[in-house]
Amino acid sequence: MPVKTAQAGDLDPIETASRDEIAALQLERLRQTLRHAYDNVPHYRKAFDARGVHPDDLQRLEDIRKFPCTTKEDLRRNYPFGMFAVPRERLARLHASSGTTGKPTVVGYTLKDISTWADLVARSIRAAGGRAGDTVHVAYGYGLFTGGLGAHYGAERAGCTVIPMSGGQTEKQVQLIMDLQPDIIMVTPSYSLVIAEEFDRQGIAPEDISLKVGIFGAEPWGEGMRADIERKLGLDAVDIYGLSEVMGPGVASECIETKDGPVIWEDHFYPEILNPDTGEPVADGEEGELVFTSLTKEALPIIRYRTRDLTRLLPPTARSFRRMGRITGRSDDMLIIRGVNVFPTQVEEQILRDPIFNGIYQIVVSRTNHLDQVEIRCELQHEANGAGAEAIDQAVRRLQHHIKTNIGISTRITVHRYGELPRTQTGKARRVFDERPKQA
Ligand code: DLL
Repeated sequence: MPVKTAQAGDLDPIETASRDEIAALQLERLRQTLRHAYDNVPHYRKAFDARGVHPDDLQRLEDIRKFPCTTKEDLRRNYPFGMFAVPRERLARLHASSGTTGKPTVVGYTLKDISTWADLVARSIRAAGGRAGDTVHVAYGYGLFTGGLGAHYGAERAGCTVIPMSGGQTEKQVQLIMDLQPDIIMVTPSYSLVIAEEFDRQGIAPEDISLKVGIFGAEPWGEGMRADIERKLGLDAVDIYGLSEVMGPGVASECIETKDGPVIWEDHFYPEILNPDTGEPVADGEEGELVFTSLTKEALPIIRYRTRDLTRLLPPTARSFRRMGRITGRSDDMLIIRGVNVFPTQVEEQILRDPIFNGIYQIVVSRTNHLDQVEIRCELQHEANGAGAEAIDQAVRRLQHHIKTNIGISTRITVHRYGELPRTQTGKARRVFDERPKQA
């Protein structure tokens, strides 16, 4: 399957429409969504009334700024069904986010919502170069997590043959990929590295793997990781973004011809970037917190949802829609180390500058004598496993220097042999272990 640049017939007409046409569609849909939320969800009615705004106050797209934001806390407070805008019997499916603390967040879909979602994941697969007739291996987890079923319905909608493998059972993943010869894999970047290792362990070279494209998301990953995955699996890797509160995978997805950040499917989601501290909008191109308003959702219309993901809005390239930059991290993942803000992806970027290390790492933060200490555990690439003490010592010093000059923190680096650090089996990798006592 060579990289296929999209032909006119492969795209939805709105993907290449003028910005004026897109804005007109957004305005119409935004009006409907605000009214739908106000009329059917007590939370929104109360929040709009408290702000003194009414859906009729939306005259131009920018007027969305007058409306209150929605947070994960609002969803928690209304757990499980309080944010739904349709009667329960119209819900076709529920999903839930795992949530590290307390209650999960429950999200719901009507049949029409499921169909829209399938359309958008199908569009994402086409953006990645996939076409009807291709075979898609889905290794995102199936279940309450939106990754597996979201990818599955989208691949079917794109006319592809789906292998619903789910996560885990790495040896079986490899066996099925070798036997069934899929063209595309959909999986988290961290678990794709685990699969790549299993290929390597079995002595299967990247050029002997049928996969041509990987559609990776659900966790932050950078350009260094992209290069590593592409080399180890012999495919083109693109980035897919989404979150359950807004829909699931396929809110935005990258085009294979440009690989320059996920294109936001702006006909269904209205994006804004806000200063996370003040809540004020920032200009396109500036970094801040990504906020989405759904434009077509029935069961769970979401108004100005604060994703906590930090990124930028970028101008359109391969499509008429704007793109988003890579997610630097979630505001919740940001570590403050001796007063310096640090995101795990920044550390990953520095590690992967050195070909001696692979993309499996841990950041352990502790505190001794009131001072934060950071240990970075990284691992040697398989090929570099035989490296001698001196080569490793030099790599450690290089990495310490890169982290110090680029991020501004001092670190202790521990180098592990290939295969020593734990691997994710189920999807999202855990990178950070913050062992500092919690502030009172
Ligand atoms: O992770 C949905 C998804 C599944 C997206 C499969 C892509 C592929 P949640 O479990 O609700 O939903 O987690 C959403 O994951 O707010 C981001 O912090 C992070 N995330 C998702 N995609 C990306 C990405 C799914 N491409 C949260 N890059 C989001 C960076 C991502 N972070």
